[in-house]
Amino acid sequence: MKVNGQHFRAIWMEKEIVCMIEQNKLPFEFEVHRCKTLDETCFAIKTMITRGAGSIGAAGGYGMLQTIYSSDQNNLLNNLHKAKQKIDSTRPTAVNLSYATNRVLQAAKVSRDFAISEAFAVGDECAEHGRLIGVHGNELIKNGANIETHCNAGWLALVDYGSALAPIYEAFNSGKNIFVYVDETRPRSQGARLTAWELNQHGVPHAIIPDNAGAHYMSQKKIDLMIVGADRIAANGDTANKIGTLEKAIAAKYYNIPFYVAAPTSTIDLNTSDGNLIQIEERGEEEVTFFTGLNNNSELTEIQIASPGSKALNPAFDVTPANLITGIITEKGIIKPSLESIKKLF
Ligand code: MRU
Repeated sequence: MKVNGQHFRAIWMEKEIVCMIEQNKLPFEFEVHRCKTLDETCFAIKTMITRGAGSIGAAGGYGMLQTIYSSDQNNLLNNLHKAKQKIDSTRPTAVNLSYATNRVLQAAKVSRDFAISEAFAVGDECAEHGRLIGVHGNELIKNGANIETHCNAGWLALVDYGSALAPIYEAFNSGKNIFVYVDETRPRSQGARLTAWELNQHGVPHAIIPDNAGAHYMSQKKIDLMIVGADRIAANGDTANKIGTLEKAIAAKYYNIPFYVAAPTSTIDLNTSDGNLIQIEERGEEEVTFFTGLNNNSELTEIQIASPGSKALNPAFDVTPANLITGIITEKGIIKPSLESIKKLF
């Protein structure tokens, strides 16, 4: 996607360096962050310099690539095993990490060259799958539609195009008149900071709404459909996504509003039978009690926004049961969130 007229992906390789858009500084500063080593790449995933299931999956593939480049043939598999463990443990909920590392590790058992091409393929396929999700998802969007989305499931989160935002871009590009309600998505505000920035760059009409305003707008018949991304979809269709998604799905069901999950098939985990088995990442309480923004001197500043001394809890994701989901938009088409449809897809 374009930033000030120049094409960017959210993450890419330059020789042996993993380059990524520094998402913690957006929308205030646009900066490219460079990771020279596997440790630096893992740090960038953990601290969310790069984030979103697809982009961290690509980062995982590129981290394996860095390991291949720095290994001899005789220690290659051993080093890749260790790198996989390190990468997979950076963020436990998104399955795209282990999807990527597993793919590269299995390929390395065949040949070094195959492993290298697989590492690149993870990121490239992710971008192409985002494009196709856009094409399929656009069929759901009528001219004049008002769409709500949660967190950032745009091109920043999926290498290019996006998952939930891809159909929105496709609809907008095809001339449909649409409006996007962007949940701010506390505590890290991926909606208010990243989705709003992406939509602004692309010229898509939108407004940021407080997290707790979704049900209000649904009750006022202001929302025609909701599209969110996913970090892991269990074999039965239960879906882990950014904290707050579950509440939106419950409200959407109550008001009879179609609720779609958009995700590439690399986010579907056939080894996890249902959502109860998905590990939910717990992050630091400072993400809840502090806020980062620009001060009057245009400097990035952290300020405390909660009662000093109070404890805070910070689950990063929740699980929406399949029965609240209308459909899953994948690169292969739109399916029902059920074991039968998911198995057919594979
Ligand atoms: O904690 P984050 O910002 O990485 O969470 C991102 C989300 O929850 C997205 O909705 C999800 O990764 C799907 S976008 C590919």
